[in-house]
Amino acid sequence: MIVKPRVRGFICTTAHPVGCAKHVEEQIEYVNKKPKVKGPKKVLVIGASTGYGLASRIVASFGLGADTIGVFFEKPASGGSTATAGWYNTAAFQRLAREAGYYAKGINGDAFSNEIKKEAIELIKKDWGKVDLVVYSLAAPKRVHPETGELFSSVIKPIGAPYSNKTVNFQTGKLSEITVQPATEEEIRHTVAVMGGEDWKMWIDALLEADVLAKGAQTIAYSYIGPEITHPIYRTGTIGRAKDDLEQTAQTLNQELKAKVDGNAYVSVNKALVTQSSAAIPVVPLYISLLYKEMKKRGIHEDWIQQMYRLFAETLYAKGEVAVDEQNRIRMDDLEMRADVQQAIQANWQKLNEENIEELADLEGYRQDFLRLFGFGLDNVDYDQDVEVDVPID
Ligand code: NAI
Repeated sequence: MIVKPRVRGFICTTAHPVGCAKHVEEQIEYVNKKPKVKGPKKVLVIGASTGYGLASRIVASFGLGADTIGVFFEKPASGGSTATAGWYNTAAFQRLAREAGYYAKGINGDAFSNEIKKEAIELIKKDWGKVDLVVYSLAAPKRVHPETGELFSSVIKPIGAPYSNKTVNFQTGKLSEITVQPATEEEIRHTVAVMGGEDWKMWIDALLEADVLAKGAQTIAYSYIGPEITHPIYRTGTIGRAKDDLEQTAQTLNQELKAKVDGNAYVSVNKALVTQSSAAIPVVPLYISLLYKEMKKRGIHEDWIQQMYRLFAETLYAKGEVAVDEQNRIRMDDLEMRADVQQAIQANWQKLNEENIEELADLEGYRQDFLRLFGFGLDNVDYDQDVEVDVPID
């Protein structure tokens, strides 16, 4: 099949198998050029097929020399449709990791369910015995609660008052003003249930109960803060409530792990990057485009893999104490939040109009990154060539 991007609104419904594999290879190449660091040997990554979870998994194997089990929720190719990007990424990662001598197995299914937790625990018991690090990197729109069966749907809305600001259609570059109505209490509860810390805690409790966490085991989940411009829609909105809950859970898990296995729980606040889900949030794509412009101008732009190499190899498993902020969070968003970067964005935000948007914002970089998520626009991939879309995950 000849695979082209089919973009509808914020969604790309196709993924390129060779392009996705190339994207994974590029990330592996980046890590292979960096110093290897001693770290955990058995790593479970929940949400391992795209974005920060995939980059964490790549760094775990190729940077720290670890064996990995990845949990993800992806679709294989069927009936003339391509597989999802995360499927192709995982197929490529697991093949390349094994070729390099690392154990790499995947579990495809709903990580929120008891069944998938059980399956992961059985695999750990059978193949490893114990786990040293659990990376929790899920980003999901929905969750079925494993005990009550309630279906939760997350929303991205402000809390308390409507929020108006500039937004952009990143495909066309058209600027507009958008107003988002505040969430109801029910919507807040749902969003916290999907993206908060409850499921992370369920994973860690299940792993503890099965006695598969090694002495000194660590766990880490990812959060975001961002600048004031986006606070009403992000950090003080529904998703921010979920992140507050996730960060609170880290404190609870930290105590629990300390007491039971002499371990730790961390949250890392990461940099904003283009994802399918952030593309759908009002205002955020415009902020990210302005951010990319300023960070690239200063030579401090980072992608998934740079962030995760810095997190694991240069922070969490580097020599010395792990630096955290006053709320005990690792701050990988330090460069994003640098005063000069944020001041420039703020000034440009005021000046933005249809004429200067391509100059002040890196919309082209945003579009490219969006397509790269699905394996399009990579160097040395012939997109006119017929490719096999039915790729198995080994
Ligand atoms: P992503 O959408 O690229 O990856 C999500 C992963 O979760 C995928 O592997 C997917 O297969 C898996 N997944 C989703 N639902 C699942 C389910 N029910 N069962 C099993 N697996 C499931 O997301 P991204 O952007 O890497 O986000 C990961 C974490 O990082 C999230 O907590 C997010 O809030 C956080 N973060 C993201 C930032 C960004 O700019 N993208 C910035 C800072 C933090």
